[in-house]
Amino acid sequence: MKILIKNIKQLVGIEEEARLKVSGADMKKLECIEQAWLAIEDDKIVGFGKMDDWEGISDWKGLTVIDASDKIVMPCYCDSHTHIVYAGSREGEFVDRINGLTYEQIFERGGGILNSAKKLQDATEEELVESALKRLDEIMKQGTGAVEIKSGYGLSTEAELKMLRVIRKLKERSPLTIKATFLGAHAVPAELKNDKRKYIDIIINEMMPQIGSEQLADYCDVFCEQNYFSKEETIEILIAGKKYGMTPKVHAEQLSNSGGVLAGVEVGAISVDHLEYVGDTEIEALKGSVTMPTVLPGAAFFLSLPFPPARKMMDAGLPVAIASDYNPGSSPSGNMNLMLSICCVQYRMTPEEAINAATINSAYAMDLSKTHGSIAVGKQANVFITTEIPSYAFIPYSFGSNLVETVIINGKVIS
Ligand code: NIG
Ligand code: FE
Repeated sequence: MKILIKNIKQLVGIEEEARLKVSGADMKKLECIEQAWLAIEDDKIVGFGKMDDWEGISDWKGLTVIDASDKIVMPCYCDSHTHIVYAGSREGEFVDRINGLTYEQIFERGGGILNSAKKLQDATEEELVESALKRLDEIMKQGTGAVEIKSGYGLSTEAELKMLRVIRKLKERSPLTIKATFLGAHAVPAELKNDKRKYIDIIINEMMPQIGSEQLADYCDVFCEQNYFSKEETIEILIAGKKYGMTPKVHAEQLSNSGGVLAGVEVGAISVDHLEYVGDTEIEALKGSVTMPTVLPGAAFFLSLPFPPARKMMDAGLPVAIASDYNPGSSPSGNMNLMLSICCVQYRMTPEEAINAATINSAYAMDLSKTHGSIAVGKQANVFITTEIPSYAFIPYSFGSNLVETVIINGKVIS
């Protein structure tokens, strides 16, 4: 199976030399070829270049030719932070917040994550697989080619394992590249409200050994926040997770400055995510670390949070990644095009920075930048073709539109 895309107005995000991530001022650079071609064989990118230098087609056997005149071709987005497996929805809480309650107040009266946990307990594995597949299909059509999915609405050994087994089924059934994250430490379940220590012991001594033996998770994550898990607890849980082969990630500084970034850097987390309350101390700590600072503009927008200092972090030489945080409580959208718009408009990221953040850097945040996140020979053929648009900057500019016309995942046209 071969695909040739020709007459591409702009081939965006090419790399002659593959990099694992892009930092600081380099994020402003986005390599492109005007009037380009791109060749795919089986599931890999095998070549690209200028139409002027194109040698034509010598072998038509099994070849699909796509004319992309006036259209842009980009690497698919990598969405390195989602909670796409969930039951039901929470628009009632959305209305409660409009009427004045805060996210924390809703949690304190048993809503929020605990509301989703209640709903998830009653859902079967098959129901969860089916509803998640619909969401995966939706984000794929919006240009996402790889996605990380977290547990964390189970909050009991049985329900956390159920979520992770659902994610394993999604890996088998969806064409998307999927990474699984164990987020048992998302909240303390209602029945252990006054005994957090017991819940942490269950996470470490009961959940992790089973997850490890079934190899159900690539990453371990903790919601480091007041009323959830402290910096010390976060470190303890993430170090325990490492023993079972799970690389750390952290929900950090979303609602307050709680030590999540420092915890993440200390344990070598691959990413720290949210970052609304990041200050100079965290920026200094991130310098020279392996940890990818990741902003989640959907959640900040939906919860009306202050803006994370994305501009400041990039100006300090750090890389930044963008992910959607798709979940029923704080970001009921996985549309990465919209995430780019929010980052450009509110965080003053340039379109080049936002595209780098949502492709190569978010690929890094899920250990995929060797195979995903850019147009490079030998990488996975995950690309999308837009409708007829003037330039790639038109994507974040035209917020709310879906300009993705054709999506190719693993070398197959899927929409
Ligand atoms: O990333 N911050 C914690 N967890 C999710 C929200 C989960 C929820 O409200 O259901 C987040 O925003
Ligand atoms: Fe999250």
